[in-house]
Amino acid sequence: MKKIALVLFITVLFFYQSFADEGMWLPQLLQSLNEKQMKKMGMKINASDIYSISKSSLKDAIVSFGGFCTAEVISNEGLLLTNHHCGFDAIQNHSSIQNNYIRDGFWAYNKGQELTNPSLFATFIIRIDEVTNDILKGVTSNSTEIERQRIIDKNIAALKTTIKKESYQDVLIRAFFEGNKYFCFVTETYKDVRLVGAPPSSIGNFGKDTDNWMWPRHTGDFSMFRIYAGKDNKPAAYSADNVPYKPKRSLNISLDGVKENDFTMVFGFPGRTTQYLHSAAVKQIMDVLDPAKIAIREKALTVIDGFMRKDEGIKIKYAAKYASIQNAYKKWQGEVLGLRSKDAVGKKKQLEALFEKIVLAKPEMTAMYLNLLKKLEEAYAEIEPYALARDYYNEITQKIELGNVTTQLRSVVNAFEKDGEKGFINAKTGVLVSLENLFGEYDVNVDKKVFEVLMKMYVQDQKAANISPYFTTLVQNNNYEKAASAIYDQSKITSLESIKNLLNGNATDVVEAIKNDIAFKLVSDMAKTFSDNVAKKLAPLQATINSLQRLYMQAQLDVFSDKNFYPDANSTLRITYGNVKGYTPKDGAKYDFYTYLDGIMEKYKPGDYEFDVPAKIIELYKKKDFGRYGVNGKQPVCFIAANHTTGGNSGSPALDAYGNLIGLNFDRVWEGTMSDINYDPTICRNIMVDIRYVLFIVDKFAGATNIIKELKLVSKTKR
Ligand code: ARG
Ligand code: GLU
Repeated sequence: MKKIALVLFITVLFFYQSFADEGMWLPQLLQSLNEKQMKKMGMKINASDIYSISKSSLKDAIVSFGGFCTAEVISNEGLLLTNHHCGFDAIQNHSSIQNNYIRDGFWAYNKGQELTNPSLFATFIIRIDEVTNDILKGVTSNSTEIERQRIIDKNIAALKTTIKKESYQDVLIRAFFEGNKYFCFVTETYKDVRLVGAPPSSIGNFGKDTDNWMWPRHTGDFSMFRIYAGKDNKPAAYSADNVPYKPKRSLNISLDGVKENDFTMVFGFPGRTTQYLHSAAVKQIMDVLDPAKIAIREKALTVIDGFMRKDEGIKIKYAAKYASIQNAYKKWQGEVLGLRSKDAVGKKKQLEALFEKIVLAKPEMTAMYLNLLKKLEEAYAEIEPYALARDYYNEITQKIELGNVTTQLRSVVNAFEKDGEKGFINAKTGVLVSLENLFGEYDVNVDKKVFEVLMKMYVQDQKAANISPYFTTLVQNNNYEKAASAIYDQSKITSLESIKNLLNGNATDVVEAIKNDIAFKLVSDMAKTFSDNVAKKLAPLQATINSLQRLYMQAQLDVFSDKNFYPDANSTLRITYGNVKGYTPKDGAKYDFYTYLDGIMEKYKPGDYEFDVPAKIIELYKKKDFGRYGVNGKQPVCFIAANHTTGGNSGSPALDAYGNLIGLNFDRVWEGTMSDINYDPTICRNIMVDIRYVLFIVDKFAGATNIIKELKLVSKTKR
């Protein structure tokens, strides 16, 4: 008995210890959960310097950038730093063949030259409070999933009206730990965010897709924006009269760089992780869902890439779309690889065995959690074919723009059917704006070819019940090329011009014409087939999994009650911390933690799509003209550390032990992209661009000294 207890104790200890760098922590809980460990790892400031509601703290310099990335305030005039790939949509929207800011970069040498971005916003977090009791009031263990959600929605609505806040602030209530806890966020959103600067893609996206998710890395992945506010410094809609925002806090920038083992932290808005899954769910992602999505994206990317390489106009139009399809495509491959190589399923199974042992040893736990693991395993087996069909359907219909156009037009049809002529006119105005954007990044020949190859997969890789019967009537002799041509020729929804014509006229006729369009009919039939044969079965299975997974989360908190738990990422503000270090990607190889401009020159391929280098950089390199930003005749470029980050952390500041800005987070290493599911401290590293490389580009490359003058640079050594 004693021996078993000892083994158990040691396993538990090992389980806790192996997680030192892991975690995306809630800033308001740092003091109670993390401060001690952070200081032990090297932090020189207090948790209250990072998050406080009674004095200015680092959190006041961090914003959610457009809801998809992070940015930080780096001057007293509201200057924001984020990634090039985060600002890319804005950069692309201002680009044309004449003013190609994607290719050539953009710099505002005074505030008058800054460019407005209508849909972009920056959100500050003012306060975070736990509200679990208010939100779960009335929920019982007997509530069905639907009842539970209804009660929660009602409680959220009620609480929102009573939370103390200013009129220009918003309130957001979010679920944590799979719905076991709720937190409330009071926020301030600024909607006038202007483009200040971006390097050419040959710097900001150096190495493009070949280097994406890879280390060693040499990308200067940054761009700069500025928040504008009303004259009272409060959020205001865009106006020429707005003034640069005066922040509560802006980050100091350290010129000292980092050494191996230095403490670092990354402060931002990680999007989504799933760390607490059952082994069966991990296995499903690794063996079934990821491979299916990878295969679909591979086909779409090959088509788009073929067109982009031949046509400069298409290259501009499809640049952002291609990068985003490619990004997850490559990440999932790394994820599968990492899950396999580190035996994530085996590790989960070990954890589950330990869980069972503890549950069986304690009667009150046995009563609550007996058979929970078995039920989860069965539920994942049952949902598998439907989850696969869902991923197939989503991947395919979202990659074909005709699918997205149909979704827009369907909202016009629905509005008409609900509210008649008035609904129609309202919906039409909004839809035309969205379609204007969509068709700005569209080429009919590219889309037709994507349609052809993906619809072939749609039919050939799926069982008959999941395939649109209408599509089957449109394809003869497996000739998908001919079917695609016929559909794109006949349809009136394949260009903005013909859609504008189609939408002209009285509502009844227009809606009739939309419904009779061949492409609209096809996509609608695909949607109906999916809804009838997949979604209807998927929904109750998903509800079961959600409730089991919620119980399993509670059980893990309960069973491993000595462990510090962090909630899965959910696009809320988090802190992650870890030390600077290299890693061993495979037997016999060891990666350093730093890269230099020398590495850019090693990768340089004149005229290449991915590895060209601007002449000015080569000149500065030859003259070793690095100004204050070089060290010992070398210009640092990127570095890695063991911070636990994910998508959404792009643009997050990398801070040193004192809270000074030392870098900008933009990626993770290939071998460790599985950290969203299974963090492994031996190979999971985040990639940051050294702030001194950013400054070198702004100052020495672009000559934007107006920007440098705004910054507060600090250094312990004279420079
Ligand atoms: N992998 C990084 C992230 O997930 C960078 C993506 C942008 N770069 C690219 N080549 N697609 O967002
Ligand atoms: N590039 C990612 C982003 O856009 C960050 C890299 C990651 O997923 O960790 O947020």
